[in-house]
Amino acid sequence: MNESVVQYLDEHADRFVEELKEFLRIPTVSADPACKPHLQRGAEFVYRQFANLGFHAEIVPTAGHPIVYAEWLKAPGAPTVMVYGHYDVQPADPLDLWTTPPFEPTLRDGCLYARGATDDKGQVFTHIKSAEAWLRTVGSLPVNLKYVIEGEEEVGSRNLEDFLDARKDLLRCDVAVVSDTSQYGPNQPAITYGLRGILAVEVTLTGPKKDLHSGVFGGAVANPASGIARLIASLHDDQGRVRIPGFYDDVTPLTELERSQFRDMGFDEAAFKAELGVSELFGEAGYSTLERRWARPTCEVNGLVSGYTGVGPKTIVPSKATVKITCRLVPNQDPQKLTQALHDYLKSQCPPSLTFEFTNYHGCPGFVLDPNSPYIEAASEAIRDAWGVDRVRLIREGGSIPVVQTFKEVLGVDTLLLGWGQNTDNLHSPNEHFSVADFHRGISASARLWQKLADLKR
Ligand code: BES
Ligand code: MN
Ligand code: MN
Repeated sequence: MNESVVQYLDEHADRFVEELKEFLRIPTVSADPACKPHLQRGAEFVYRQFANLGFHAEIVPTAGHPIVYAEWLKAPGAPTVMVYGHYDVQPADPLDLWTTPPFEPTLRDGCLYARGATDDKGQVFTHIKSAEAWLRTVGSLPVNLKYVIEGEEEVGSRNLEDFLDARKDLLRCDVAVVSDTSQYGPNQPAITYGLRGILAVEVTLTGPKKDLHSGVFGGAVANPASGIARLIASLHDDQGRVRIPGFYDDVTPLTELERSQFRDMGFDEAAFKAELGVSELFGEAGYSTLERRWARPTCEVNGLVSGYTGVGPKTIVPSKATVKITCRLVPNQDPQKLTQALHDYLKSQCPPSLTFEFTNYHGCPGFVLDPNSPYIEAASEAIRDAWGVDRVRLIREGGSIPVVQTFKEVLGVDTLLLGWGQNTDNLHSPNEHFSVADFHRGISASARLWQKLADLKR
């Protein structure tokens, strides 16, 4: 790669971290209505990054949080790359488990600690700083770049599809690049060729119109907390299989080749158990841990609320009980169809004397990329050079990024998932962090990627 670009990255490394800290100080929690003004500030921060580099940039309002769109199209004949990322973050709770406050970014043991450090502000920032390095040294980029940085990924990207639809022509590109996933392990960079989809719902059961004295009334009415426990218990059999009728009908099974590739990954179960603090692993019978995490559908309870949860006892029959559930889906499963199946099944399990309320939050299908795509090889070379390793793994992952399938459907392009994070970065958890070394390697890989993709077209 161009020497002056490499040198620029080196000379400005510390400032890049300082600017990332500034980004991380903005509490862009998309799920929290109280944070709405901060999401606007987050969008403005991203906008200014691009505007300062001479990109054509705009803040596009949506029914929810704004989308930042930016483009630099002065490389005629060169490929056009779409970069997607998100500036919104997950809620920081539980706050008391953070060693340093979530929105006061702090350097510790070579990592930057803050909500959003790895998911996704730190990762998305690598693709901004790589463009800066080219523009401030060479004065131009080897490819055309379009960036879509949204503020609603963590709540299901509700308004993104409309934006993509409305601007289909403007957004035309050859390939999309997303850094919002993880490496296989420390210093083991990976390209992710598959992600799971998701469906997210909430169920509330209501019994008596108010909480009741459990001595005076208990035994004479159905208890909503017991009702919700029944629903939850009905979701799985004791082999860890999901019992929703039809749940597995459309699943594209893993090929024998993939199963053997997963087996050859040398996955360390003992280290995994230690990392999670569990004595045993548990999941769908007949599948390995990597298969369960990357390529099998699941149904998980995410939250459960009912009755009195304060200190000490309180003798009541609660009026309501609520459960939040998500299913992870694999390619060929339809989120809408399965949301209906889940609804029908849970309703059938609900004691008749409780009222059943069902909220459908969001959903997206699973994703797989053809592992033989030439873009994968180009990205792999860029990553090898930046990390100084001789191989880049090809993995699947279990998380979801709703837009990747939409890119395929609306824009007809493949997405390169180039994750600079680690599964141990505590994404969505207290003490989220991002390795400063991975941040810089990510910037370097991104800067190299623009060149590799340009070379590919020639
Ligand atoms: N960056 C994650 C997705 C991810 C993380 C993929 C690690 C692979 C490895 C993303 O921000 C995320 O959290 N997505 C949500 C989906 C959304 C619809 C709420 C998820 O996976 O829970
Ligand atoms: Mn993310
Ligand atoms: Mn996330």
